[in-house]
Amino acid sequence: MRDFIDVTDLTKEEVLQIFEIAREIETKKLHKSKWCLLEDKVVTLAFFEPSTRTRLTFEVAAKRLCAHTMSVVGEEATSLMKGESLADTIRVLDTFSDVIVLRHKYEGASRYASEIANAPVINAGDGRRQHPTQTLIDLYTVEKVKGTIDDLVYAVVGDLRYARTANSFLLGLTLFKPRAVYLAYPPPLAPREEIIERLEEAGITLYVNRNIQEVLEVADVVYVTRIQRERLPDPREYEKLKGSYRITKDMLRKAKEGLIILHPLPRTEELDPAIDDTPYAAYFKQVESAVPIRMAILAKAVGVL
Ligand code: NCD
Repeated sequence: MRDFIDVTDLTKEEVLQIFEIAREIETKKLHKSKWCLLEDKVVTLAFFEPSTRTRLTFEVAAKRLCAHTMSVVGEEATSLMKGESLADTIRVLDTFSDVIVLRHKYEGASRYASEIANAPVINAGDGRRQHPTQTLIDLYTVEKVKGTIDDLVYAVVGDLRYARTANSFLLGLTLFKPRAVYLAYPPPLAPREEIIERLEEAGITLYVNRNIQEVLEVADVVYVTRIQRERLPDPREYEKLKGSYRITKDMLRKAKEGLIILHPLPRTEELDPAIDDTPYAAYFKQVESAVPIRMAILAKAVGVL
């Protein structure tokens, strides 16, 4: 039984083991039928921030494992609105849950919940900090399409300050041996110092503050995110930053052969839909991996694998 809060809670071997399970699930099509490892268990999906893919794919994953699912969608629907503390809410959920999947706007909310709950807690996004299950989906997609995660040139583009998916992805790369990592962003959305330090500590060859066109020409894998409008401290800031980066099909003319573009979705205007039909687009493949990966994570968290 264990929590999954930060992608670097896992070792590289543990990540690869989860990929192995996900591959087996896909080969045997268990994500389209069932594998009753969690029969009679209760998986609680506590989502205090909006979500489409994460919540629904966790729900499908739990159901394919034959668990019961309980959902909380939005703070408005809970006693948090009546002034209940998050600690008390978690304590209540813990009385009937075998796993708690938590999404919350506060950084550190999942770690805090994991200290309160006896049930394992899985972080499904805590503010701008991390989204570790998305990172496993992202890295699994890289491995599937490129055959490796090591030895590739990565570029992470967009809102590196507030996008938890981009930050988690960067930290996930510290478990591997990328050839280099390029970062391209509008200056107000520059990455946080702690992330840069973690990448440097891991000995990653890092190029910061690059130009988007340049990184599109050197990368094997480009990871792009939307501007996290809801996390900007001032709404006027969004008006200024809106449209400040956008990858168009035209910009990919000099891309490396075999380049893949990842995006956690939802997208807004940072990625031209004209790219969707090119071999570069891997973002819908990412979504296809969500259920197998989340089945493996749930089974691991409960300790049945
Ligand atoms: C992301 C999130 O919630 O962080 N979505 C996801 O889970 N795939 C990305 C985003 O909201 O931009």
